[in-house]
Amino acid sequence: MTLDSFSVPLNDLSRKPPFTQDQTEQIMELILKGPYLNGAHTRQFENDFSNFVGSKYALGVSSGTSALQIAFRSLNLEKGSQVIVTANSGGYSTIAALQCNLSPIFAEVSELGILNPDSMFDHSSNPKAIVVTHLYGQAAPIDRIVAIAKERNVFVIEDCAQAAGLKYMGKMVGSWADISTFSFYPTKNLAAIGDAGAITTSDDEIYQRARWLREYGWSQRYWAEIQGGSNFRIDEIQALILNFRLPNLMAMNSRRKEIWMRYQRLCMRYGVGILGSLDESFVAHLAVLQLPNRQDFVNHMKRFGIETTVHYPYPDYVQPGFNQINQSAFPITEMLCESVVSIPCFPEMTEGEVIMVETALSGHFEAI
Ligand SMILES: Cc1ncc(COP(=O)(O)O)c(C=O)c1O
Repeated sequence: MTLDSFSVPLNDLSRKPPFTQDQTEQIMELILKGPYLNGAHTRQFENDFSNFVGSKYALGVSSGTSALQIAFRSLNLEKGSQVIVTANSGGYSTIAALQCNLSPIFAEVSELGILNPDSMFDHSSNPKAIVVTHLYGQAAPIDRIVAIAKERNVFVIEDCAQAAGLKYMGKMVGSWADISTFSFYPTKNLAAIGDAGAITTSDDEIYQRARWLREYGWSQRYWAEIQGGSNFRIDEIQALILNFRLPNLMAMNSRRKEIWMRYQRLCMRYGVGILGSLDESFVAHLAVLQLPNRQDFVNHMKRFGIETTVHYPYPDYVQPGFNQINQSAFPITEMLCESVVSIPCFPEMTEGEVIMVETALSGHFEAI
């Protein structure tokens, strides 16, 4: 079976709600007339998104990875400074740290795959910043992490790429840390139609630097005020699409959660691990099961025509692309990399598809 022929895909972007007549006209007008960058759609998105998150500022940028680079650089850390990251989060924060000439130091995660506040400083003598990834749409214990970091004078960056619209203790993620980052990659909970991202912050100085960094480090046209700037701009088409979709984000998150809850009930019945939680501290970006016999499960789902994948199979520290990082192994990180598997969970899934996944899951769970 080829990837294209799964009866139930992991995602199907062609099913996103269609644009209205009025929205289509706005898109056409923008394509025909511009401006394509630094225009009113970006400003509106930044205004609406900062209100949505509850931060003083938001800045649209070109991707979640650009957002992480801007975040690191906005903190004005010395070259080679240690920054704490987790090794099971897709590598994005490690890549961004290396791009910014910082030294990523790994920390162990909890059984949920999220930075463990008690292990944060185990391998770092003098960290200057911590990246907290709200992985799969699960909220990290960001209150504790921020409190501990503050005591030690360490900056906190929240990576909310998988967690747009997530609340923790009644407060949106993206509003807890010194600076936060978002990705609007097309499969994310808030999706652009190409690459896009954002940063949010309530710190005036960090915001000012981030704004300059987004565009070459310029404080004014052709005047590079600070180092580390580049072209990290969002384009107007992406901002316009995000403006159309932001009002629906919470409804889409609810639909994801409903689907996830169907799987969760089955997992509970059979004693199978599924990451996430029933309360509001999880927005079901992904439905991730934990299975010791993962390959058997993947083969079984494939026979039922159901696509699966692994987020993420390799710890950062074993990958040659990150090979300047020489660190000890992390048992929970490795256990998760070997056992997690993602199953279809996107808001446009049909009832029939959800039932197909449930049937396939029950079949496998009964046999194990
Ligand atoms: C947790 C996390 N951080 C960062 C990123 C990077 O975002 P982007 O693909 O927009 O660069 C992603 C997404 O792919 C992600 O899942």
